[in-house]
Amino acid sequence: MKSSRMQWVSLVLVMLGAAPACSQNGVEPQGTGTVASAPAELREGEQKFNTYCSTCHGIGGVGTTQGPPFLHKVYESNHHGDEAFRRAAANGVKAHHWQFGDMPKIDAVQSPDVDHIVKYIRWLQKQAGIF
Ligand code: HEC
Repeated sequence: MKSSRMQWVSLVLVMLGAAPACSQNGVEPQGTGTVASAPAELREGEQKFNTYCSTCHGIGGVGTTQGPPFLHKVYESNHHGDEAFRRAAANGVKAHHWQFGDMPKIDAVQSPDVDHIVKYIRWLQKQAGIF
């Protein structure tokens, strides 16, 4: 009797110990709608992504009804290198992978902005285990 109560108590302690470990490193599980905030050096890319790309590609790159998710192996760097991102922003994209329609060119975004945005997207992809 006494020992089974002890087991129960230590199980609860293990569970209590495990929960904070997840939130401490800031990595939230996918699909909860929360996005871990990016390291300071990626903030500029994060802001630009949120301003110019997230309307279609979703906050955190999860996609929307207007555009595909970047958290997808189609968009990992071997398939869509950084140049593909520069081209997409500068020229737009004709629909070819999906059924969302064409992506318009994004005039407000210059090449150096895209470099920041791509760094941020690569980071998101890494968080999602896509590399
Ligand atoms: C108005 C909606 C919209 C916005 C805003 C938008 N995109 Fe897209 N994007 C799309 C759609 C739709 C596709 C998918 C086209 C297809 O079917 O392959 C796409 C595809 C892409 C691709 C893949 C290109 C390829 O070669 O297949 C890249 C890279 C991309 N977008 C980058 C960006 C970046 C960077 C931004 C912000 C500067 C951005 N997009 C903003 C809608 C959008």
